[in-house]
Amino acid sequence: MALPKRSFLKAAGLLFAVSSLFSCVPSEERQMNLIPKPAQIEWGSGYFKADSNLVFDSGSIRYIIDGEGNPEGYSLSVSKEGIVVKAATDAGLFYGKQTLKQLYTPEGFPCVSITDVPRFSYRGLHLDVSRHFFPKEEIMKLLDVMAYYKLNKLHFHLTDAGGWRLQIDKYPKLTAETAYRTETDWLKWWDGKDRKYVPEGTEGAYGGYYTKEDIREIVAFAAERHIDVVPEIEFPGHSEEVFAAYPELCCSGKPYTSGDFCIGNPQSFTFMEDVLTEVIELFPYEYVHVGGDEAGKQAWKSCPKCQALMRKMGMKSVDELQSYMIHQAEDFLKSKGRKLIGWDEILEGGLAPEATVMSWRGENGGIKSARMGHDVIMTPGNYLYFDFYQADPKTQPYAIGGYTPIKHVYSYNPVPVDSLNTEEQKHIMGVQANTWTEYIKDAQHLEYMMFPRALAVAEIAWTPQELRSWLDFKPRMNAHIPVLQQKGIHAFTLSDEIEATMTVDTLKREIQVIMDAEKYPAEIHYTTDGTMPTTASPLYTQPIVVKDSAHVVAAIFRDGQPQGEPTEKKVDYHRGINKPIQYNSRLYSGYMAGGMNALLDGYRGGLTYLDGRWQGYLDNLDCVIDMGEVTDMHKVSARFMQLIGPGVFQPKEVELLTSEDGENFTSQGIVPTTISNTDRDLSFQEYTFYGAWKARYVRLKAKRGNPGFIFTDEVVIW
Ligand code: ACM
Ligand code: ZN
Repeated sequence: MALPKRSFLKAAGLLFAVSSLFSCVPSEERQMNLIPKPAQIEWGSGYFKADSNLVFDSGSIRYIIDGEGNPEGYSLSVSKEGIVVKAATDAGLFYGKQTLKQLYTPEGFPCVSITDVPRFSYRGLHLDVSRHFFPKEEIMKLLDVMAYYKLNKLHFHLTDAGGWRLQIDKYPKLTAETAYRTETDWLKWWDGKDRKYVPEGTEGAYGGYYTKEDIREIVAFAAERHIDVVPEIEFPGHSEEVFAAYPELCCSGKPYTSGDFCIGNPQSFTFMEDVLTEVIELFPYEYVHVGGDEAGKQAWKSCPKCQALMRKMGMKSVDELQSYMIHQAEDFLKSKGRKLIGWDEILEGGLAPEATVMSWRGENGGIKSARMGHDVIMTPGNYLYFDFYQADPKTQPYAIGGYTPIKHVYSYNPVPVDSLNTEEQKHIMGVQANTWTEYIKDAQHLEYMMFPRALAVAEIAWTPQELRSWLDFKPRMNAHIPVLQQKGIHAFTLSDEIEATMTVDTLKREIQVIMDAEKYPAEIHYTTDGTMPTTASPLYTQPIVVKDSAHVVAAIFRDGQPQGEPTEKKVDYHRGINKPIQYNSRLYSGYMAGGMNALLDGYRGGLTYLDGRWQGYLDNLDCVIDMGEVTDMHKVSARFMQLIGPGVFQPKEVELLTSEDGENFTSQGIVPTTISNTDRDLSFQEYTFYGAWKARYVRLKAKRGNPGFIFTDEVVIW
């Protein structure tokens, strides 16, 4: 179990102090839909009757600053006579007020005693305003909702190849020439032959930027809501737009040739310090994010200036050039009393001495940094990227890939308790979700991707881990969809899909199918023979047990009608489960799907190749399964996925071979793919062979048809 960052004893003391003000009698647990769930809550009975408009200035509420305890913590007591909110600081009172807003009902405020402190001091959302630009009004709308859920950091990704978004007086061409582009749709523009930035004022151009006055307004609006704005300026990579305006800062000296600053050119450092100087003037928060992710580093290998610097400094690899720039950035920020944050690539080539690391490529960068004594913000892509799909892609607007539905987001614990000791765990400053906007063109779509997933992040960031549970969060999250809508947020209204997960029990030789839905309450009916369920079909109340084969089809029903598309799951406690498998081809180490028997574990890969079930290969697949003895078989199948965005293709064909001795194999047929290699949609194909074979060894060969990956799971043998 994770240790909460704050002393719980202190919080308990505070509770004791306020309980004498409290005249309600504790009653059974009430269901109030508080998000994030407070650290300690004791319900009373009855209400403090008040009008929601009057109560915040009626004198019936006493706000007391006592200067004690966690600066963001508060205690709140509602009795029939009135309300008392106590905190150490204004921020704590502010959070107490947010809780009060959520407590209000038409009957008044329910009697309650709450003692609350955040689990983490950094509770963030990141927003990419470069790939698509969002006006300051939208930023303020988001800040307002963030505050309501006690999120306190907005990471503002202000610069990237999509366009420079921040007025910088010393380098006016950044906004005059590279804040606009020829095409709104980022992908069309990026993939287009004539990708160009165009000057501000060009007719029909897409883009925008924040003036210094805009930023001051945003920062002040955020500060009123106890939110810090974390500016990010990208160094040394992701800077194509800079070189369109100032080509002398990249290795070739030519625009549209590279995304990386020339590290061997002292002008790059002048630029960095000048820009950061103006950034520091605008953004008061002590941390500044300097990017550091995904530098290409190619041009550095042949650039005379970069090579000369490497020789002079005795550097052995170009990674050290990146590290050199980040070290310089840190020295500069420190000289101004500021601190540096960077993406986890800043570990490569040597971490700057006091850098805070944002771990996005999973948790490894964060774990490594915490072990080195550095502070860490966890933001792993496979849990916390909101540009990923939040439901079955075929029901969703086009997204970059991935799959982070809200249940999965909610399951994330930012403290890797198995990898860090108690001291190291203290370096986890907090957690953040990232919304990259390559495929998000407007505010409505942006809000749709961020909400309600941001509510899961709010609770991860605030609520003690031991109080968090999906089943407890689910009804509260459902209740907050109309709350978000009242705030004008175009939230995703949760999926009608059913999540069907499996537990393979090799002792009982059965598979249990467990169903869950985001919607609450959800009346789920199902069949196991592949037919469409109706309200007359069994009602799901407990796991479905499958001893052999089942084709489960399930749907949520409301008022007798199925909602959305039914969910299908083929389940086979098949004869290949846990049989030994040998590979004549290479597995790709990054996608081993948890081990050598992944194809024969009974678990089928889901909607993303990142779910730990799919096995990936950059070669043809050739594997041999040993059934242990000569066996009568009649059906073999293997399922593959395609998602060409990240380079995952169907194989050209799959061949089944069988053998009695493991040496002489007979082909039992070839099944070609039926899916086009230009189809961008996520798709699946099951390559199925029927026959009557007597064999001990089953061999499957999948031939790649395209450069890129093939991904498979599961092989089913009957
Ligand atoms: C990132 O997603 N490139 C930080
Ligand atoms: Zn260079």
